[in-house]
Amino acid sequence: MQGIGQPMTNPAPTPARYYLTTPIYYVNARPHLGHAYTTIVCDAIARKKRALGIETWFLTGTDEHGQKIERSADQAGRTPFEFATALSGEFRGLWDRLGLSYDDFIRTTEERHKRGTQHLFATLRDRGFIYKGSYTGQYCVSDELYVDGPPGTVCPDCGRITETVSEENYFFKLSAFERKLLEFYEANPGFMGPESTRREVISFVRGGLKDLSVSRTSFSWGIPVPGDEKHVIYVWLDALANYMTALGYGSDDFIDQEKFKKFWPADLHLIGKEISRFHCVYWPAFLMAAGIPLPRSVKANGWLLFDQGKMSKSKGNIVRAETVQEILGADALRYFLLREIPFGQDGNFSFDALVQRYNSDLANGYGNLVSRVVNMVHKYFGGILPEAGAETAAEAALRESAVRTIAAFGPAFDDLNFSEALKTLWALVAETDGYLTASAPWKRPADRPEAEHVALQARVLATAAEAIRIITALVYPILPDSAAKVWRQFGQGEIADAAKNSFLAELSWGGLKAGTRFAEPAPLFPRAEKDAVERMQNIEDQDSRSVIETASSGATSGGGDRGFAATAGAVNAKPEAKTSASAATTAGKGAIVKKIAEKQEAWVEAPVDSVGVDAAAEAQAYETVALAANAPAVAATAELAPPQVAQGSELAPPQVAELAPPQVAELAPPQVAELAPPQGSQQITIDDFIKVDLRVAQILVAERVPKADKLLRLEVDLGYEKRQILAGIAQYYEPEKLIGRKIVIVANLAPRKMRGLESNGMLLAASLEDGAPVLAGFLEEVPLGARLK
Ligand code: MSP
Repeated sequence: MQGIGQPMTNPAPTPARYYLTTPIYYVNARPHLGHAYTTIVCDAIARKKRALGIETWFLTGTDEHGQKIERSADQAGRTPFEFATALSGEFRGLWDRLGLSYDDFIRTTEERHKRGTQHLFATLRDRGFIYKGSYTGQYCVSDELYVDGPPGTVCPDCGRITETVSEENYFFKLSAFERKLLEFYEANPGFMGPESTRREVISFVRGGLKDLSVSRTSFSWGIPVPGDEKHVIYVWLDALANYMTALGYGSDDFIDQEKFKKFWPADLHLIGKEISRFHCVYWPAFLMAAGIPLPRSVKANGWLLFDQGKMSKSKGNIVRAETVQEILGADALRYFLLREIPFGQDGNFSFDALVQRYNSDLANGYGNLVSRVVNMVHKYFGGILPEAGAETAAEAALRESAVRTIAAFGPAFDDLNFSEALKTLWALVAETDGYLTASAPWKRPADRPEAEHVALQARVLATAAEAIRIITALVYPILPDSAAKVWRQFGQGEIADAAKNSFLAELSWGGLKAGTRFAEPAPLFPRAEKDAVERMQNIEDQDSRSVIETASSGATSGGGDRGFAATAGAVNAKPEAKTSASAATTAGKGAIVKKIAEKQEAWVEAPVDSVGVDAAAEAQAYETVALAANAPAVAATAELAPPQVAQGSELAPPQVAELAPPQVAELAPPQVAELAPPQGSQQITIDDFIKVDLRVAQILVAERVPKADKLLRLEVDLGYEKRQILAGIAQYYEPEKLIGRKIVIVANLAPRKMRGLESNGMLLAASLEDGAPVLAGFLEEVPLGARLK
């Protein structure tokens, strides 16, 4: 065994670069607000660092190995890789829709990760810290955690009964690091936080560390131990390694090695509090043993609670980020999470509190302030910012407050005290608002000469506008979309460009120049109406309802994007059109709903099945969408759908006809007859329709397929991923003319092979009399990946 005298202190931060990470998310369930929380916090930090001119690398990703995923996939009737791919896509897709600015997204099933993790394992073994032994004890599959105690012991983290495992394993000499770790914590008081986490970790280590089993033989879904392939590497060793493998650790490639040198050690691992032991004990010990510098800090956020419990899939008390985004926008969600919950503490999420915060701070606060000033600049100065002229005591006071706010906001934010930072900033919002009201530039008292009044209007509007510019610059990392809108309205161009030019590094009073042309006023945060809470609840209830209907039908729903699918229905639904299930859930997510959701969790979370379209002939590769219900992916219906659910009329299982596989005729190539009005075409429900995931994509590459005169090979960009699609349109479209065009694709069609090439999706086109396709497109600007519903 080599010496364990590894770094006692972690290196001081290099200001020129910053590397931060989220935990990598398990792919056994779709993302919910709890997952979005950590990722949003990281995004805000990353944006601020970049805007300060610091070269930043923001990593996120998915944790795809282990017994838990293997079992979930098995229950869903999928291979673990298929299962993981679909769920990983859900996380990445959501991060993209929320506009999160990650630089890299790692999947632990990627080759770069496998190579790096094996390299780390081999290094630990070569340095004498891994040995072979046998383990008999308790294991919690849900937390992938070894637990001390006799058979029947419950997991201290999740309360589930552990399983007894008896295997020959490789062990890591964790016990050798007890003293080293304690010394390290003492020498680096800023390493972990908050204080509660620090105390908990230290007391865990003081309680004594046992060697840790770092391989498993009883299942195979993992990374093989190099040189002994019947073992797979313990999923937490595998997962933690992602922070280095994503930078190129273990690669022979020069560019990877340079990147690793540049960004490692990480400046910040942001994690949820329940995984601090893995990050603050195991991870530093692995790194010390491997002779690799330790991360500079690990900070734990508290839990997002909903209905009195940690928001989690197994509790059935989750809220989707999409729901809030749909009704109030992503910025509202970001603001609420960072303002409402002191970082490090648990925080309650409630739609009521969210809407209240939104209306008071965003709609009536910042949004209203911006709109007042922009409107008045237009009304009194034709949209051109006037010269402020000489300052009075009122302007000087506002300027001094703004300068103090700039000084206070940064350190509070950097301490992850976002709530305090925002409170300080909103005090400036309120002060600016008060200044405006007190100055009343819209009202000329009878005894004030016209010229004097115009001078006051100019002074007040220029000063208030400058205060708003400061507020907007500071809040940009937290409200990036809204800040971008204000920046444009203030004639400042794109805030993203300003961020690239480190605008936060030199933020000071006086940046707004007289003569700047303001853009037309545009709404920022429309006031949330009374029914906003209900609408969000309906969306969530609809989501639960589709779980129940799915359970009753035995078919997987359009699960790949069930959240959005449910959203589509719910937004249009009138509040009074609540279902019995939704009524139950509104009253605290009713017990029936919860139970069923829980029972189904393993497989209703399963990825989308195909739309049930058989591979058609190449010539018809552009078929228009044929709606067909999915073939049941799991046939456990009878067992899983309790009778009381099936009785409720709204919840009755879909008719058999709806589930019947599509008739061949429905899939036939478009015929002339299609131009005739539809004759008795089979009706479908909204739930059938939403199974089809239609998305906006852009064609990046278009080329003919050799020896197939009808086929084009396309590479399309969905914003959140790129795909290859084969389309039978070569006789009608010149490939080069298609490049750059935005089209509509069916994104959840099962892949199929044509001429040895895999096609992942289908284009939508109208079919003319002679069979010629006309690709569907848009007249307005649409973002890539937008869903059609
Ligand atoms: N895969 C491991 C992490 C490996 S990191 C090398 C894991 N995954 S997880 O999907 O279960 O959780 C990922 C993160 O989401 C954790 O930080 C966890 O705390 C966070 N959250 C999941 N539910 C949450 C809340 N309800 N509230 C706040 N964060 C929550 O653990």
